[in-house]
Amino acid sequence: MNPQKLSFSLLATFTLTAAVVCSLNGCASSQPDESEMAAAQAATAVTHTTNRTTTVYLLTTGSPTGARPQSTENPPADSLQALVDEAYAKFKDDQSGKNADYIPYLASVPSELFGIAIVTAGGKVFTAGDTGYPFSIQSCSKVFTLAEIIEESGEDEVLKKIGVEPTGMAFNSVTALGLHDNTAINPLVNAGAMASVSMVQAGSADERWNKILAFESSFAGEPLKLIDEVNRSEGGTNFRNRGIASILYNGQHLFCDPIEACEVYTKQCSIGVTARQLAVMGATLANGGVNPITQQRCISPKHVPRVLAVMMMAGFYDESGKWAYTAGLPAKTGVGGGIVAVVPGRMAIVGFSPRLNEAGNSIRATEAINYIAQQLDLNLFGSLK
Ligand code: DON
Repeated sequence: MNPQKLSFSLLATFTLTAAVVCSLNGCASSQPDESEMAAAQAATAVTHTTNRTTTVYLLTTGSPTGARPQSTENPPADSLQALVDEAYAKFKDDQSGKNADYIPYLASVPSELFGIAIVTAGGKVFTAGDTGYPFSIQSCSKVFTLAEIIEESGEDEVLKKIGVEPTGMAFNSVTALGLHDNTAINPLVNAGAMASVSMVQAGSADERWNKILAFESSFAGEPLKLIDEVNRSEGGTNFRNRGIASILYNGQHLFCDPIEACEVYTKQCSIGVTARQLAVMGATLANGGVNPITQQRCISPKHVPRVLAVMMMAGFYDESGKWAYTAGLPAKTGVGGGIVAVVPGRMAIVGFSPRLNEAGNSIRATEAINYIAQQLDLNLFGSLK
């Protein structure tokens, strides 16, 4: 290949890459124009000739091998609503799994509750079922405290002080701690989430809690409240988390008093959210860090991909690989029965259903989100069709 042709192909490829990345991030000039498309087609014609060009092109716009462009268009409102209704009807009668009971309150939540909510990056809301019932946010809260500490201390500090590697083990695994030198491992397991809480810059437990509550509320676009009963129930039974906090503190991997970290973390998990509110929180990430309902910026756009990457690697705990393999979306589950999945630039999809599988992930919420993701062809790695 002559050098002129190569530089043209790279230029065209990078031009289109920028356009597509820009469109996913909601930039003003988001659509590649005709000349960019023509340039890209020309680039496609030469992509087979160098590994570098091929790799870049596959990641962005589709190629002869089957990856396809990510559309930033959502389907029309009536078809999105119809899909949410369809997913609700399809999985409503699945009674498999059971409520978490190691936190006594959770065993008493009506198992039949089931809700699905989509909130788009443009702020449109679609719901079916029990989307107004406040349940405890549990581990879904970890995502937003991670966002808070990245925003406050920067991505390098989080990498250095906590880490971002998946464990392949349960969310409260002590074995995983032992295998990782008693470090916190990642911000989405209990150890890492307590380390995240301890990294929030605060002079007292109250200040730490109020900052976390305010930050999570900004993502929801309305004041969130503690569910006292959940906090009492979990606070009286969280001996394992107290042990984990002590191990971390002993190894200097916790950055405030361990009892304070565990107590504030327990409160964070006891925040009440509805499926609709959780979907607005996820849609804030889908919308580059700006709440699509209030228009408040909650985190810098450059921090959103860091948060989503951790969700993709560790959001489903020891089922994260299977989830990435089937749905291909960053998501986070909670033992309260909520799951939030984020489609960058487009929407958040939330399912809520208290019955869980062995890994602590809600069965109907997983099914519903996966179904919607398949129907809309949302897998971030490419089309499954
Ligand atoms: O610390 C705990 O065990 C709970 N507060 C949260 C665990 C959780 O949600 C795991 N998620 N699937």
